[in-house]
Amino acid sequence: MRAILLAGGAGTRLHPLTLAVSKQLMPVYNKPMVYYPLSTVMQAGLRDVLIVTTPEEGPRFRALLGTGAQWGMAFTYAEQPSPDGLAQAFLIGAAFLQGGPACLVLGDNLFHGTELAALTRACVADPAGATIFGTVVAHPERYGVLALDAAGRVTAIVEKPETPPSHFAVPGLYFYDDTVVTRAHALRPSARGELEITDLHAGYLRDGRLTAHRLGAATTWMDTGTHQSLLEAANFIEAIETRTGLLVGSPEETAFRQGWIDAAQLEALAAPLAKSPYGERLLTLARTGR
Ligand code: DAU
Repeated sequence: MRAILLAGGAGTRLHPLTLAVSKQLMPVYNKPMVYYPLSTVMQAGLRDVLIVTTPEEGPRFRALLGTGAQWGMAFTYAEQPSPDGLAQAFLIGAAFLQGGPACLVLGDNLFHGTELAALTRACVADPAGATIFGTVVAHPERYGVLALDAAGRVTAIVEKPETPPSHFAVPGLYFYDDTVVTRAHALRPSARGELEITDLHAGYLRDGRLTAHRLGAATTWMDTGTHQSLLEAANFIEAIETRTGLLVGSPEETAFRQGWIDAAQLEALAAPLAKSPYGERLLTLARTGR
């Protein structure tokens, strides 16, 4: 399976922060935002990633992430001329996906916890239909929301409803079978002019091919769409990293733990970063394995 990391968009809700720099390159505590969703797909075992950016920001993403080879991965880059919807990722990424199954992750979504890696690895091993997730949030009206029947089965997914049918928001991490590109081609722009991810999921649901896993307390999901949620995410990461002495959302550490790079390669990656606590932590990991 191959993954698409969607890192375009206008970032208007973060203005003026995003007037000159892409939202997904903003810091979340000690590392660029895009490191977190990238680490999530790495934990799922995915090494081939298409990074979709705005035309202006492509060079900056390439400067930060390179070819991926340094982390035992392979990155391909593509530009989205204008933010015409999340499902457009599959039209832009059609050739990259080579007719196979796909994972899509949004470049501004952060996940933390022990439960997700096993769940996502299972999706990669058996990409049947579409798999999405549901997470309880206080303000579901800001997201795609699951509507459930009395037996807890999904009956609909509603995008940013005024009156949410449940508290289960759908985070920006999705897995699809090899019909996804064909299905995306059949979508038509919504009233707001976007190819909606929710419409793609509605098609899978109609065909009885949608699975929605509810994520429990073992997983924390944060989005970074507003000034407040960006600060909350940074505070959350800072608290965990300070308490545990471990890194959250580090591609170097994830690549090492996945066995995609060895200790010598990790040390070489850490050396130029060694003046920062981030680099120090990687050096310790390379030298002690812990
Ligand atoms: O964060 C999860 C939510 O993401 C889901 O619950 C919603 O169902 C889904 O529609 C989406 O809602 P947002 O309002 O957060 O989407 P937003 O327009 O902010 O875009 C999400 C990310 O994708 C953001 O990093 C920008 C990027 N993007 C967005 C669009 C519309 C693109 O790269 N291209 C696009 O065309």
